[in-house]
Amino acid sequence: MSTNIVWHHTTITKEDRRKRNGHHSCVLWFTGLSGSGKSTVANAVSKKLFELGIQNYVLDGDNIRHGLNKDLGFSAKDRTENIRRIGEVAKLFVDSGQFVLTAFISPFAQDRELVRSLVENNEFIEIYVKCPLEECEKRDPKGLYKKARNGEIRDFTGIDSPYEEPVSPELTIETHLHSIEECVNKVIAYLRDRHFIKGES
Ligand code: ADX
Repeated sequence: MSTNIVWHHTTITKEDRRKRNGHHSCVLWFTGLSGSGKSTVANAVSKKLFELGIQNYVLDGDNIRHGLNKDLGFSAKDRTENIRRIGEVAKLFVDSGQFVLTAFISPFAQDRELVRSLVENNEFIEIYVKCPLEECEKRDPKGLYKKARNGEIRDFTGIDSPYEEPVSPELTIETHLHSIEECVNKVIAYLRDRHFIKGES
């Protein structure tokens, strides 16, 4: 960090924004293998929240890598930096009074824990999008597993780069066993149970 920089407090606080919005703000951190369904479920939850009048935004791995993080590749060091930056962006969204849904493989437990530590206790919901590698590989929506198996892509998660499963995520959703709708309902029920959003679960 540079020297001679001082934190400037904002006039409108996170609490002011939450009060105006009528709901909590937090990070819904979706983690899982490529092809597990992170983006699909995150976008479906986003749509549901939108319909319920809840301010939210989706940050998606492939999209962020087109802009903010286009200088980063898939080495362990770059993945860590990818997640660090997204964590900081996610924190800004929480501060702005919104739900932020992130869909990144985020394969390293330590990187996910770093993001958790950036925000307050009730502001980080880790959602493990669990799906067997074989199923992800069968889906192969972008044809990347095939390329990785052929040696055209190196350091591919699940093939020749590790994925560290979450040990105690707030939620686990299994996309090979349940429909998208069921997965969405599970997330919404959790948010209601914790009184992060209004309504009966
Ligand atoms: S992360 O590991 O740094 O969290 P991120 O979610 O941003 O990854 O990007 C993953 C997406 O990039 C995958 O869904 C896939 O489309 C694409 N991709 C390209 N190369 C790789 C690779 N070597 N490993 C994993 N995903 C890759």
